[in-house]
Amino acid sequence: MHLNLSHPDVRANPYPTYAYLREHAPVTSIHRAVVGRTWYLSRYEDVMAALRDPRLVNDRRSVGDGHGDPWWLPKALNAFRNSMITTDDPGHRRLRSLVQIAFTPRMVESLRPQVEAVVAAQLDVLAANARAGKADLIADFALPVPLSIISTMMGVRPGKDAAFHGMTNRFLELADRGIAGLFLGARNTMRMVRFFREVIADHRREARDDLVTALLDAEADGERLSEDEVLSMIFLLLLAGHETTVNLIGNGVLALLDNPEALADLRGDPSIIDTAVEELLRYANPVEQTTPRYAKEALEIRGQRIERGEVIIPLVAAANRDPEAFDDADTLDLRRSPNRHVAFGLGVHYCLGAPLARMEGRIAIRALLDRFRDIRLKIPRDRVQWRSTTVVRGLRSLPLTLA
Ligand code: HEM
Repeated sequence: MHLNLSHPDVRANPYPTYAYLREHAPVTSIHRAVVGRTWYLSRYEDVMAALRDPRLVNDRRSVGDGHGDPWWLPKALNAFRNSMITTDDPGHRRLRSLVQIAFTPRMVESLRPQVEAVVAAQLDVLAANARAGKADLIADFALPVPLSIISTMMGVRPGKDAAFHGMTNRFLELADRGIAGLFLGARNTMRMVRFFREVIADHRREARDDLVTALLDAEADGERLSEDEVLSMIFLLLLAGHETTVNLIGNGVLALLDNPEALADLRGDPSIIDTAVEELLRYANPVEQTTPRYAKEALEIRGQRIERGEVIIPLVAAANRDPEAFDDADTLDLRRSPNRHVAFGLGVHYCLGAPLARMEGRIAIRALLDRFRDIRLKIPRDRVQWRSTTVVRGLRSLPLTLA
């Protein structure tokens, strides 16, 4: 079969394609320039198993024997390849443990007043823009909330966050475009490296009470962290800290508008917000696939032989709609419980930011519904624009009328 997840029709609605894959080609591959044969897993059971399989690794370099990076790979990219998500244990654990504390439910709870304040401020922006007839849920609300929180946690100076969002946005758009993406993105990548080096230099000049200062302390401690590791960590946390949650809020609100009964249910009983956000994670899939896994040895999944070094992509968005795992998988049920979705991944790389994302999502969606009794799409539903990346699933914009 010819699988093209980037096709605009698939971007607009990937679920029929995922249903087809689960049914007819649960373990299917395509050949991609640069990365080679790439396998896609779409069934819940296979995605779960893959994310727990020690034969699948996140660091391509550990496959060995010529399976590392090609020599011509832009050097600037190396600066981003030493993060916890591109490493395996024990190195992965070492990196993750340095920042884990900042993302525990308790620490995240202490950020609640900050999240509430940003949400309130952005709702004012949204309301003002609505009066002028130009409210955009993404630019005015869904994006600035997580962007502002992660920027503050990382000590990015106010006013600088829009610049790095522009860069991470482009990085994601190009990330799944193979060789062309690499070269088109080279300048952007170099700009990002410069930006993050400047964040580090800024913190070296003046220590502050934030995560980057904590990382630099760990670096100064001796062997705990190299400068490249600090850079990779900042990149990962800044990117993952906002390019995901924006889609929980954006896709989540669109899913509610698409399902007026569910929306009315949540309006009528806001105490269901916790299960509602879990269901929006499952149903609206802010992240469509995990990062690639590499086969450390040849293996078989459902009779398909996967050679050593080949790439495997677990499609968490497809798994989350698997009827074998969820009753009425294509129905949005805000009271669904239990809800064992894999929107945050699974295993050792399970999302570090899950407690933060959940808190931001719950506060933002509840406050939005409290503030506006009437929320409507300002454009026809089929004109809604989706981003072209297949890694995260997100809207370019969501024009609304609000009252
Ligand atoms: C709704 C929002 C979010 C979703 C759906 C999401 C989803 C995911 C998924 C699926 C993974 C696993 C990737 C893999 O196995 O390759 C992951 C990992 C990760 N996420 Fe999130 N994420 C969200 C928000 C956040 C936030 C707010 C942060 C904060 C910095 C964050 C930081 C991370 C990090 C650091 C990892 C890598 C963990 C590791 O390798 O051990 N995420 N996320």
